Amino acid sequence: MHITTIDSEDLPTNTSNNEHFQAVVNRAVNRRGFLKTGGGLAAAGFLAGPLAGCANFAKSSGPLMGFESIAASSADTITIAKGYTATPFVPWGTPLFSSGAGSRWKGDGSESAADQARQVGDNHDGMHFFPIDGKSNNEGLLVMNHEYTTVEKGKYITLFGLPPAAADSLERVNKAMQAWGGSIIHIRKDSAGKWAVVLDSKYNRRITADTPMAISGPAAGHSLLKTKADPSGTHVLGMLNNCGNGFTPWGTYLTCEENFNNNFGTTIEPKVDGRTPAQKRYGITAGLSEYGWETRHDRFDYKKEPNESNRFGWIVEIDPFAPESAPVKRTALGRFKHESAAWNFTADKRVVIYMGDDQANDYVYKFVSDKAYVEGDKASNQGLLDSGKLYVARFNDGNTKGDFMGTGEWLLLDKEANPVLKADPSFPDQASVLIHARMAADKLGATKMDRPEWVSVHPGTGEVYGTMTNNTSRSVTDDVNPRAKNAYGQIVRWREAGNNAAATTFEWDIFVLAGNPTVEANKGNLNAGSANINAVNTFNSPDGLAFDRFGRLWIQTDGKYSNSGAFAGQGNNTLLCADPVTKEIRRFMVGPKECEVTGFAFSPDGKTMFVNIQHPGEGGTGGSSWPDGGKAMPRSATVIITKNDGGVIGS
Ligand code: FEO
Ligand code: CA
Ligand code: CA
Repeated sequence: MHITTIDSEDLPTNTSNNEHFQAVVNRAVNRRGFLKTGGGLAAAGFLAGPLAGCANFAKSSGPLMGFESIAASSADTITIAKGYTATPFVPWGTPLFSSGAGSRWKGDGSESAADQARQVGDNHDGMHFFPIDGKSNNEGLLVMNHEYTTVEKGKYITLFGLPPAAADSLERVNKAMQAWGGSIIHIRKDSAGKWAVVLDSKYNRRITADTPMAISGPAAGHSLLKTKADPSGTHVLGMLNNCGNGFTPWGTYLTCEENFNNNFGTTIEPKVDGRTPAQKRYGITAGLSEYGWETRHDRFDYKKEPNESNRFGWIVEIDPFAPESAPVKRTALGRFKHESAAWNFTADKRVVIYMGDDQANDYVYKFVSDKAYVEGDKASNQGLLDSGKLYVARFNDGNTKGDFMGTGEWLLLDKEANPVLKADPSFPDQASVLIHARMAADKLGATKMDRPEWVSVHPGTGEVYGTMTNNTSRSVTDDVNPRAKNAYGQIVRWREAGNNAAATTFEWDIFVLAGNPTVEANKGNLNAGSANINAVNTFNSPDGLAFDRFGRLWIQTDGKYSNSGAFAGQGNNTLLCADPVTKEIRRFMVGPKECEVTGFAFSPDGKTMFVNIQHPGEGGTGGSSWPDGGKAMPRSATVIITKNDGGVIGS
């Protein structure tokens, strides 16, 4: 989500009185070691546990990173490490079919809603590459999210062409709805190494804000999910604000609904705040929305259809190889502003999904399935996310305060098994716990975090890493969120007790405190960052996060790109790479102006990497014309990265 967002996730909606644990007092001990040597003593042993035994992990024989860190840049182009090539691919508006509506991109935004429904959507985000046969490096389904369309002061900056314009007709609202959601794109590489869309493939598919989908799991059919159009509470049209993603070991895509609150407004009481406490906790703002969908479709009016917003904010499972299948919203994973979904197995092959809720002072969650994965039984595996335990994290300071490490607990969000929730009449049943997961987590004393974004599991050790992007509203700090007015963000990692992903306790430490050593050094605060931040790799607002199968940690940013003041020398948003053992971080790629870098996909051999460039030129003032250049409108697009010598990316 861009940083000029409406109802920013920077604004906390968490008014619970959960403690921010400790004020910053007497933080003595290992702070110095962390800041100077990048981890202190304890962190060295943090990775030394047994391997999780992930079959996909390919231990690198040489050093993990073989490229030279590049400088920051403010240019309107992709800048990439020496020896690599980055090629734009499938920008917004790319046709998926050779004839009929949408079979031509006109370049001026004059496409209709019907055209847009058959073209690649806008604001590319989370992504995954599914090899066509389970192993191909040259052909597969590239599945990606289209998070939203950029609006500046109520005007869509490019959706209807230039100049920016409001969605002031039913046709325009419908076009916006068709630009959201996701794409399934059949792609193939030719013998010259050039990737192209396989036009007219039976797999090519757009999923939009209007696509029929199912609601499954414990909350399906609950009264809070029933609407006039769907008295069963089991079917919904569309998915909204699909931000980060995940995938499953059984070959499906997980897409995460984030800032759905921005799509709901009301035309009835623009001057009267008629929102319920739950609507406020989930960030719905009073009055008209900036997107304007409620002016043409009653279901987006929170007064006319108060339960419709309860049907968004879920993780949606999509089978890309079954083009006729309906996407399924999995309610067992809880409803919040989902950022991404990272899986691991327990020793007995139950599936664990780690998730962040991206709002200032919101929480980290995990789901543990009741049943175990069965190799080769896709039908049975597709039910795994319908039944399990949902937990929310508490990060304790541990024995020592101020050392950037501690212990943690997973608190069970279960109406029957948790006595706090059992005794609480505001949650009459488990479905209401899941639909109002944020409010249930408030009652349990979960730790308010600095905007949890993506989570990723190390393929060899099972350690889990999570980005906390920033939190300028923080006033009370604790060990895991150690800075007030946190403008730079941090990456936290945790290790489950006994290396068991189903454990209810864990240890954690901070992998990196992002910061700016050029501007903030020697001020006696933490804003210079941890020891693994230097004048070359300095960045703010880590967001996208993914391990490749060799164990490299890739970090993407969605932060301030002013390149001035506190952010001087940091340039445009960027893609970095880290070695989880040495903690070294190098800058690998820099995006064009006013973009966010987000989403990862890899070919199985690691020699092709896909990343997304979201909302170049988001200010709407002509700040970017990437990727087409000249006088063209800027367009979100994927970038295909290859190593010129044909090697593994990052090696
Ligand atoms: Fe869509 Fe939290 O990023
Ligand atoms: Ca501590
Ligand atoms: Ca994000």
